[in-house]
Amino acid sequence: TLFRGKSKMIALFVPDIMNPFFPELARAVEDVTNKYNYTFILCNTDGDLEKELTYIDTLQQKAVDGFIIVSSTITDEMLKKISVPIIALDRFFHSELASITVDNYQGGREATEYLQSIGCQRIAHLCGPESASNTMERLRGYMDVVRDTDWFLSSYLLSCNYNMEQAKVMTMEMLRNHPEIDGIFAANDVMAIGAMKAAEQLGIRIPEDLAVIGFDGISVGEATSPTLTTMAQPIYDMGTRAAEMLMEQIQTQVAPKTIETFPVHLLERESTKRKK
Ligand code: RIB
Repeated sequence: TLFRGKSKMIALFVPDIMNPFFPELARAVEDVTNKYNYTFILCNTDGDLEKELTYIDTLQQKAVDGFIIVSSTITDEMLKKISVPIIALDRFFHSELASITVDNYQGGREATEYLQSIGCQRIAHLCGPESASNTMERLRGYMDVVRDTDWFLSSYLLSCNYNMEQAKVMTMEMLRNHPEIDGIFAANDVMAIGAMKAAEQLGIRIPEDLAVIGFDGISVGEATSPTLTTMAQPIYDMGTRAAEMLMEQIQTQVAPKTIETFPVHLLERESTKRKK
C-alpha cells in the first residue's frame, strides 16, 4: 500500500524523551505545526529499531503527512517504507534526505581548545553512542586537538551513551584512576552534569581542580551548581527550521536534498570560570 498522508498530522521521532534537549526541540516543532494548523505527534523511540518500525507502520496507516526523524539507528530499508516527506534532524544524515545538523566537528575542536586555553592539560572526553554520527564528529574534533600532545592516553576516553547516570558512574571510576585529569569535555550536557556529580562526590572542586564543558545548551545547565559551560546548539532554531522544511515539502511534494549546518557557540558559565 502506498500511504499518501492528508491527516494534517506530522510525527517527530526522538531517541530519549528524558533528555531535556528533545523537549526543547519538540517545542519548536509544535510551534510551527500549530501555525500551519497541523497536529504533531511525539514518538519516543529509545533508539530501538522495533519501536521505530512500529511507529512508522502505525502512523502511515493513520495517514500522517510527514516525519521529522532524530535517529542513529534507522536504516535505508526502513526509510523506503515511508512514502511521505521526511526530514533528518540532528543525528542522522543521508544524501537522499533534507537534513539539519550543527557543525559538530568544529564544536568538538572549540570545546577542547577552550579547555586548553584556561590551562587544562589532561583533558578527558565523554562521548555518546558510537552509532550517532554527531558524537563521532565531536570526538574527531577532540582527537584532532589532543592527538599531538604527549600526554594523550586512550583511558581518557569514555563512551557514556549520552546518559547522565552512566557518565556519573564511569567518570567516578576514571577520576579515581586518573586524578591528574583537570578537564572534561562531555559530548552532551546531561553527561557533563553526571560528570560534575561524580566530581562533587569525590570532593574534587569545579572549576578549580577540574573544569567541565558540555555540549547542547539545554536550559537546565543554568540551574546546576556550578552552572554549566557548554557548546550551545541553536536547539529551537533547528526544530523550527526542520518543521518549516517539512511543511514546505508537504505542500510542494518536492524534496530538497540539502544538509543545512547551524553553528554552535561557546556559552561560558561557572564550571570553567577559573580565577585569573
Ligand atoms: O543530548 C542529546 C544529544 O543527542 C545532543 O547532543 C544532540 O545533538 C542529540 O543527538
